[in-house]
Amino acid sequence: MSLTAWVNGRFSPLDEAVIHVEDRGFQFADGVYEVIACFGGQFLELDAHLQRLEASCSAIGLSLLKSGPELVELLHEVYRRNPFEHAMIYIQATRGVAPRSHLLLQEIEPTLVITARELPSPSAEKLAEGARAITLPDIRWKRCDIKSIALLASVIGKQEAARQGVDEAFWLDEKGHLLEGCATNCFAVIDGNLITHPLDHQVLGGITRHLALKVAREHGIAVVERPWKLDEAGLTECLMSSTTNAVVAVSHIDDITIGDGKAGPVCIQLRQWMLDAFEAMKQ
Ligand code: PDD
Repeated sequence: MSLTAWVNGRFSPLDEAVIHVEDRGFQFADGVYEVIACFGGQFLELDAHLQRLEASCSAIGLSLLKSGPELVELLHEVYRRNPFEHAMIYIQATRGVAPRSHLLLQEIEPTLVITARELPSPSAEKLAEGARAITLPDIRWKRCDIKSIALLASVIGKQEAARQGVDEAFWLDEKGHLLEGCATNCFAVIDGNLITHPLDHQVLGGITRHLALKVAREHGIAVVERPWKLDEAGLTECLMSSTTNAVVAVSHIDDITIGDGKAGPVCIQLRQWMLDAFEAMKQ
C-alpha cells in the first residue's frame, strides 16, 4: 500500500511529505507525539490518547493546530487513506517553524503531522517464550510523564538492547527500581499481585498500562503501584505493555531468568483479557 501523510493541512504521499528545516521539532525536539492503534477503522482508547496529547501540549505550552472533533475526523481520514486492518496512527505536534533560537521570539503556527503504518504485532514465538530485556541506569530527563519527541535516550537504550541481542531496555532509578522501558511500561507479578511503578515524572502514563491495570483489577488481581526490584522474593513474572504490544511477558532480564523462562500464567491470562476488552470496545 502506498502511504499517505497529512502535514499542516495537506495530504500527500508519505515519500513527498516535507517539513521545513527550521521546524523546532527538527532543531530542538520541541514537540510531542502520540501512537494510536486502529483495528479495522476503530481507534483503540482514542479519548485517552487525545487527552494525553492535550496534557503533553499543555505541559510544554504548545497549542495544537487541530483539536477536538476536527482532529478526530482528520485521524479517521488518515486511516481511510491508509486502511491497514491493524494500523498504527502517529501524531506529531511541534511548536512550528522559526529562525533557530531557544527562546521563541514571535507568534508562529504549530506544525501537525499525522501518518499511518501497519501495526506490528509480537510473534507467536515471542508471546510464548517471552521477550528479553536488559536494564540500564536511567539517563533520561525528569519529565518522562510528557510524551516528548525528544527520544534520544530511548534510541540509545534500544540500540544497546539490540547490540546485546534483546528486545527492550528497562530504565533503573538510582536505587535499582525498574521504572519503564524505552517504549514500554513494565510490571512484575509478586506474590500473585500485579506491581508497577507509580505514575510520576519518571514514567509515561501508558494508555495500555492503564488498561492492563483496569482489566487486572476487574478480574480480581490485586494491583499495587509501587517501586519494585528484580531481586524481590515472590517475583514470578515480568511483563511489558505498549500500544504496539498490548502486554507481553518478559522472560529474561540481564542474566536473570524470570519464573520458568517462558510467558507465565498471569501474563497469558491478562493478555487474553485485554484482547477481549479490545474486542468489546469495537462493538
Ligand atoms: N511508546 N513508556 C514509554 C517511554 C513509551 O514510549 C511508551 C509508548 C509507553 C507505553 O505507552 P502506551 O501504552 O500509551 O503506548 C511507555 C510508543 C508506542 C512509541 O514511542 O512508539
